[in-house]
Amino acid sequence: MNILVIHGPNLHLLKIRKPEIYGNLSLRQINDAIKKRAKQIGVNIRSFQSNCEGEIIDAITSHSKWADAIIINPAAYTHYSYAIRDAIEAVNIPTVEVHLTNILKRESFRRISVIKPVCKKRFFGEGVMSYIKALNYMAAYLRRK
Ligand code: DQA
Repeated sequence: MNILVIHGPNLHLLKIRKPEIYGNLSLRQINDAIKKRAKQIGVNIRSFQSNCEGEIIDAITSHSKWADAIIINPAAYTHYSYAIRDAIEAVNIPTVEVHLTNILKRESFRRISVIKPVCKKRFFGEGVMSYIKALNYMAAYLRRK
C-alpha cells in the first residue's frame, strides 16, 4: 500500500507559525509520526510539501501510478483551489482531506472547502492526530477494496 502525503503552503513553517493555533510540532515531526504509524500498519509513505499550487498538482499527477491513496492538507488552497480539486478528480485516486485545526470554528473563509467534494472523508481539528486518523482510515479503506 502506497500513500502520498501532501502538505500545502506555509506548513513548512509549523512550530514557528502561530503555535497557539497550529501546535508545537514541526513538519518533520509530523512526517515522522505519520511514517512511524505507517510502518506499524504496513503502508509506504512519500511526503511532499510545497508552497506552489502547480507543484502540488504536478506531485498528484506524477505519483498517480505509484500512489494507492492520497492524504492532503491543502492548507489555504483548500478554500479556493479549483485547480487542485480538478487534479484530484482527474487522477481518481482515493483521497482524504486533513487539517490540523478546526476549520469550521475559525474565520468564515476557512469553512469553505472546494476540495471536500472530491475526497472520501476529512479529518480536522486534532493536530497530528488528524493525519494519523486519515492514515488509519485510508489503510482500512484500501484493505477492504
Ligand atoms: C490548515 C487550515 C487552513 O485554513 C490554513 O490556511 C492552513 C492550515 C490546517 O491544517 O488547519 O494553512 O489547512
